Amino acid sequence: MADTSATQETQAPAPPSDAEIASLLDSLAVSPESNLIGALQDVQERFGYLPPPALQELGRRLRIPLSRIWGVVSFYAQFYTEPRGRHTIRCCRGTACHVKGAGRVIDAVQRELGIEEGEMTPDLMFQLETVACVGTCFLAPVMMIDSQYFGNLTPQRVQSILQDYRTQNP
Ligand code: FES
Repeated sequence: MADTSATQETQAPAPPSDAEIASLLDSLAVSPESNLIGALQDVQERFGYLPPPALQELGRRLRIPLSRIWGVVSFYAQFYTEPRGRHTIRCCRGTACHVKGAGRVIDAVQRELGIEEGEMTPDLMFQLETVACVGTCFLAPVMMIDSQYFGNLTPQRVQSILQDYRTQNP
């Protein structure tokens, strides 16, 4: 079994330096003509989240007030302002999944990773969320890892899926 002990302390990644932020925004050629949402997506893709100093620099280069940038960031669920695990696991707790044993599946994920909902693993690999429905009720109980669906889950399958995922996505 992978070492995912909850007793390990999660080391939050160091925030990017001003030089790293400037270098990224230079490479993206961010200017007042750039698209804000696209630039936010690019910054998040690079750093895994939106570090506040990057938002500040983005606002300066786009000539957009920081308050407006924060408004956009907080409006869209796709944006994160805190560091997160690299891969997001979304366990469905909707009605169809609940009836088919989602509780046992979620317990198995938490046990295997050693984390609770809303947390990331100590190695920063996984972020765990629960959601109301992922739109594939016929596969209940379901979880997603990033954009990949895993259905008809059992606690045993969860364990092997997560262990395989770690091996295949180091
Ligand atoms: S309730 Fe789980 S996928 Fe719809």
